[in-house]
Amino acid sequence: MSQRPLKVGLIGGGAGAFIAHPHQRAIHFDGTRRVVCAALHPDPAVALREAENWPYPIHGYKSYDEMIEAESKKPLGERIDYAVIVTPNHVHFDPAKKLLLAGIPVMCEKPLTITVEEADELVKLVRSKKIPFGTAHTYIGHWTSRLSRFIVQSGLLGEVRWVDAYYLQGWLFERTEDKGVMQAEWRVDPKRAGASGCGGDIGTHALMQLRYCTGLELRRISAHLETFLPNRLLDDHFTVYAELSNGGKALIRASQISIGHKNDLGIEIVGTKGTLRWAQEDPEKVVVQLPGQPDLVYWRGCVQTNDAFLKNVPADLLAEITLPSGHVEAHHDAFARLHRCFEADVRAYNEGRPFQDDGTKYANVEDGRMGVYFISKAVESSRKGGAWVEM
Ligand SMILES: NC(=O)c1ccc[n+]([C@@H]2O[C@H](COP(=O)([O-])OP(=O)(O)OC[C@H]3O[C@@H](n4cnc5c(N)ncnc54)[C@H](O)[C@@H]3O)[C@@H](O)[C@H]2O)c1
Repeated sequence: MSQRPLKVGLIGGGAGAFIAHPHQRAIHFDGTRRVVCAALHPDPAVALREAENWPYPIHGYKSYDEMIEAESKKPLGERIDYAVIVTPNHVHFDPAKKLLLAGIPVMCEKPLTITVEEADELVKLVRSKKIPFGTAHTYIGHWTSRLSRFIVQSGLLGEVRWVDAYYLQGWLFERTEDKGVMQAEWRVDPKRAGASGCGGDIGTHALMQLRYCTGLELRRISAHLETFLPNRLLDDHFTVYAELSNGGKALIRASQISIGHKNDLGIEIVGTKGTLRWAQEDPEKVVVQLPGQPDLVYWRGCVQTNDAFLKNVPADLLAEITLPSGHVEAHHDAFARLHRCFEADVRAYNEGRPFQDDGTKYANVEDGRMGVYFISKAVESSRKGGAWVEM
């Protein structure tokens, strides 16, 4: 008999919200997960009205406190199996903590929290209560991110010498925050976004891509957080030079004032034997460049188990492909892959079985915490004029 679909609750998502929608589409991707309830807005009346107008029937709650209290009283099977937090950064910690205390698994948006202390507290709670927790680093959900990780971590490029991880956007090149764009308003406010604007918002994704693909950590960093727009309180351009745990070097950069760049997240990994290139806006392929040879282009869906360069491609990597090649996967597919993997852990948790939230399938709570720590260290370095600080 088919299993019952998991029940999911949203925290945030009403009144013109952005990322709640890719999440809710990805939740419904496989038919095995459904959004059943939500606390969609900080104003209780708006929250209920937005739930009434949701594209399909859901139960609306006036607040996330009400939702967590009501849902946690229900028996397993009736209550939500997990919650997705899609609020601005300053409203991540409180609902995440309350959900964990109620024993409800959480998929939380990044950056995990706005302080390291809060992130530490969530790590402790997740590990002591043994509850599935995901940090929504969308882009590691691309199959080609998985393939990049396999190529680099199986040593096919040799030792990593240099990484350029970047996330460039141009939408804040002017005072977008003064034009009634709610996504811009809170992102430039330190109370709601945290200590770094551009770095916290998108630099954390570049860091995650680096850590996920290479398996390396940062040993020390030298950062420059710059603000090009007059009177803007947070950085809109973020440049970090880093020494990696293997002695290699990296540039982790992000920008919101780079006119022409839309959602230009990418990575170039240079090893002693070859270079790998991947770009989020062209996510169906990974390019490998070896000295003196034509470029190798690996398209999702076309990778063979007996490929002369890749050699032993793991079966579980090939099993993660959902569509034949040429039927293009993109942003929603990446999000769906994260929710699919998270679902497997939530089902195991519900049944009292062990689960593997080790960061290989989706970013875990420690990955989220590392993003917050990276930001705090980058701010520290930048305030000291780019001085090297230990990670
Ligand atoms: N993973 C990604 O690729 C990605 C992309 C965009 C945004 N994000 C992250 O997602 C989060 C939301 O970003 P966004 O651009 O969607 O923001 P948004 O402003 O579009 O939406 C925020 C939503 O949260 C709601 N909200 C605010 N306070 C609330 C409260 N107390 N209770 C209930 N709802 C509340 C708002 O009403 C709105 O519906 C941020 O943390 C951001 O960094 C991640």
